[in-house]
Amino acid sequence: MSRLVVVSNRLPALGKGVAAGGLAVALEAALHDHGGLWLGWSGKTCAAPSEQLHMQELDNVTYAALDLSPEEVAGYYEGMSNSVLWPLCHYRVDLMEYSRPALERYLAVNDRFARALAAILRPDDLIWVHDYHLIPLAAALRRLGVENRIGYYHHIPWPAPDLFRALPKSDGFLAGILAYDVVGVQTSADARHLRAALDAARPRLERIAQPRGTRIGAYPISIDTATFVARARRAQELPRIRELHRRFGPRDLVIGVDRLDYSKGLPERLRAIENLLEQHSGLHNRVSFLQITPASRSGIEGYDRIQQEVAERAGRLNASYGTLDWVPVRYINRAFSHSLLAGLYRLSRVGLVTPLRDGMNLVAKEYVAAQDPADPGVLVLSQFAGAAHELRDALIVNPHDVDDVSNALARALTMPIEERRDRHGRMMAQLTARPVSVWAREFLRDLAAGQRLPG
Ligand code: G6P
Repeated sequence: MSRLVVVSNRLPALGKGVAAGGLAVALEAALHDHGGLWLGWSGKTCAAPSEQLHMQELDNVTYAALDLSPEEVAGYYEGMSNSVLWPLCHYRVDLMEYSRPALERYLAVNDRFARALAAILRPDDLIWVHDYHLIPLAAALRRLGVENRIGYYHHIPWPAPDLFRALPKSDGFLAGILAYDVVGVQTSADARHLRAALDAARPRLERIAQPRGTRIGAYPISIDTATFVARARRAQELPRIRELHRRFGPRDLVIGVDRLDYSKGLPERLRAIENLLEQHSGLHNRVSFLQITPASRSGIEGYDRIQQEVAERAGRLNASYGTLDWVPVRYINRAFSHSLLAGLYRLSRVGLVTPLRDGMNLVAKEYVAAQDPADPGVLVLSQFAGAAHELRDALIVNPHDVDDVSNALARALTMPIEERRDRHGRMMAQLTARPVSVWAREFLRDLAAGQRLPG
């Protein structure tokens, strides 16, 4: 029986009393069943680069954490990962800040992950690497003689081929992709983009990569649907949720939950809300917008600016439309527990998910799963979120079109209950048929290709 080895930049929060996210839940289920290993950055910095792994055993799974030096964090995480690959994959080439030293650090950290992993690897381990921080990891492992099956899952969009060419040394990244046996992306469009980039570079790649018949496929990620449904049902009984229910009273609640990021379309969303209030004075004092936005990646170009812009816009909107007893937009920069969020989703008449680009967007799926099927809310969803490929019964909008979004909001707020139930029922059928465990199972089936699967 093969052991499963997961590698990601971040490790799940162990023993911190924080409910694990859907991804961690799905992978941990597969890891627990037959034993496994999860390797990642500890989130801590050490004075000098070190090969030492901090090991922790929990429920049949070994967690192995690596510290990084401040220079490594700057070049690998803040630099190449989040100032080059993240903006590029989210179509924000204007925000790319490439530097040669950052690329070198990024490659060196991938080499260090590879050395640490190779030292504890067994010959029939299946290795599953997650996200853009670690694209070159398989190539680094191959250089060390590792012949195990290795898969890569890209959680964020894969950009159109012409855009991808803006990445300096893009052939090197594509050669890195070809060192994997299976590469998974979120949507068929992402898979098409990646295949086209590989086709265009093929003659050059033949000189620098050893082809191994890499399989590229769309494996849309999801949530642990049943757990989320149960959590939302329980959450409506929480004293805090009951109190908020009373406080919002007869007002309809519209909720947005996003990590603070320029890809999430927050200024555009606030413009749409302003447009709605401008055109529908009947909604004044009758609708409240709750935008929960934990700050993220502060100190990186683009993030500090978006923080300021969104806060200013929300402030201006409240100053123009607020009254003595109505604050139209509550904009909150902190994170909440999974159960409180589930309760808030269930209280909200509308879920507003309008990223300008998003790999999948699991908030959209969580919002749907959290609804009371007898009286469900409506999801307004950007056409540029991966989730729009599956949740076709949401009100699909172009987030750049302020009128489109504000019209969808007005429609959502007045949608008859029969239509709300129909739309919700169809989306729930989709989420129930394809929870995150199916995602993990399908990827691992292709990765194992004949080897006996863990889990
Ligand atoms: C996105 C990425 C993940 C990342 C997460 C949080 O979802 O796909 O790989 O872990 O954002 O970002 P952070 O930089 O805080 O790890």
